[in-house]
Amino acid sequence: MMPDPALTCQKLRIGVLASGSGSNLQSIIDCCADGSLAAEIAVVITNVPGAGALERAQRAGIPTRCIDHKTFSDRQTFDREVVSALQNAGIELVVLAGFMRIIGDVFLDAYPQKIINIHPALLPAFPGLHVQKKALEYGAKFAGCTVHFVDGGVDTGPIIIQAVVPVLDSDTEETLSARILKEEHRIYPRAIQLIAEKRLRLVGRRVVIDPPLETGATAQHNPALA
Ligand code: GRF
Repeated sequence: MMPDPALTCQKLRIGVLASGSGSNLQSIIDCCADGSLAAEIAVVITNVPGAGALERAQRAGIPTRCIDHKTFSDRQTFDREVVSALQNAGIELVVLAGFMRIIGDVFLDAYPQKIINIHPALLPAFPGLHVQKKALEYGAKFAGCTVHFVDGGVDTGPIIIQAVVPVLDSDTEETLSARILKEEHRIYPRAIQLIAEKRLRLVGRRVVIDPPLETGATAQHNPALA
């Protein structure tokens, strides 16, 4: 019988920051629960009172904090409050899951190369906001999602893993977003597991996975060719 990875390695203590519905948070909660992710979500922090992510965390028995950015006079004070909540919870890796605030130096200095984000586009194409709509309007034939380390830029940090989906002629922003989101839920826990297994190494701005992931495919085509 294969040993349960959650029992054989020390669990990585992660803190999830979210502003919205928290479907990515949910996929991480589920993977922690089924043992495919050797991590413990030690705190979920949101900047939006009533965010769906809060309810999902509470349902899973995870400690939560709501730190409303609107109640702070400036960004640095807000950032310091969030960082100190993360530090008090003993967080080793900060996981951004739809956290709609800019990550500045206060975060980056406290957690150098220990903050990751998921973005619903194939970076470096389409950084920023409303990127599923932008990919559709641009006429891209593939779209997807990217898990990356966070640096001082907007969606510019080293890429950990990506998943690709086709863009169909019949797509609307909603249908394309849903197809991408399904892949987000698959790859985000996998990226965290790679960090928990200490398999990631930075070479310049390239993230090397050691030992490498197995993949049979050498190319993707759109439309898919038999
Ligand atoms: C996702 O599309 C993620 O890529 C982006 O924000 C969205 C969050 O969705 N950064 P959810 O709150 O996880 O459902």
